[in-house]
Amino acid sequence: MIFYFSATGNSKWVAEQLADILGENTVSVNEELRNSKSNYTYSLSDDERIGFVFPVHSWGVPSLMLRFIKRLKLNNYNGHQVFSVCTCGDDAGYTNKILEDALKGKGLKLESCHTVQMPNTYIVFPFFDVDDKAVERQKVESAKYRIRKISKAIVDGMEDKSLYVKGSMAALKTSLIYPLFKKYTFGQNPFRVSDACLHCGLCEKTCPTSNIRMEDGKPVWGNQCVQCLACIHHCPVRAIEYGKITEKKGRYVFKEMDEKNGDVTI
Ligand SMILES: Cc1cc2nc3c(=O)[nH]c(=O)nc-3n(C[C@H](O)[C@H](O)[C@H](O)COP(=O)(O)O)c2cc1C
Repeated sequence: MIFYFSATGNSKWVAEQLADILGENTVSVNEELRNSKSNYTYSLSDDERIGFVFPVHSWGVPSLMLRFIKRLKLNNYNGHQVFSVCTCGDDAGYTNKILEDALKGKGLKLESCHTVQMPNTYIVFPFFDVDDKAVERQKVESAKYRIRKISKAIVDGMEDKSLYVKGSMAALKTSLIYPLFKKYTFGQNPFRVSDACLHCGLCEKTCPTSNIRMEDGKPVWGNQCVQCLACIHHCPVRAIEYGKITEKKGRYVFKEMDEKNGDVTI
């Protein structure tokens, strides 16, 4: 059973690729968190593995994944293999340690943690932007090969440390920047919508914390934002901005490439 959280589709795609190769089912954490009736209880069969797939947020685990893990109840858990795969634009810092601690709190032992580099989605800080199209394509192509390697390591039950990229100054990033990120990005964020808004409500539907409500056909943000950036990237007409900083930044949502001609299929 692979639990995945994904704001812009990278981790969803990675989770689905892994599930295909490993023969596991997937559970969308986004959907579970939006479902007020979910009791976060899942039954495991004997031969299942437990996987956690999510994007790295500021060199740590996204707070929504941690919220989900806190609520998670697994029936029939009996020492099943536990692995994780985090997607990141560059590197993950000590995201693995944060996850390991969170899972330990639930009596689960994280056996292996891997990273897959995917197109970047962090655009709300100076000098950070989406990748250009050639880099996006190259990252997705390399990811396919890496996912196969990760799957093999999982099947073999052997942790391969070369399949986790922590990057430079990992301790500093995870112990200093990650807590600051969590503290200062939770709550109200300076999102706004322009007259280009189509009133389609996609931002409302994709917000994993149900923090957006439509008023007179336009989105209004509440105070439960975790800055996953799903709303701003999914808007089909770029009508959403984060203050002024995103006005000249790109937008990105994962789309499957057409293998033959490189076009995207939507
Ligand atoms: C709030 C936020 C913080 C991020 N922090 C990092 C980071 O610390 N390191 C990194 O390499 N990528 C970082 N990224 C990029 C994402 O981890 C990466 O693009 C990921 O594949 C997005 O996955 P998703 O489409 O499943 O949401 C960040 C993205 C966001 C939105």
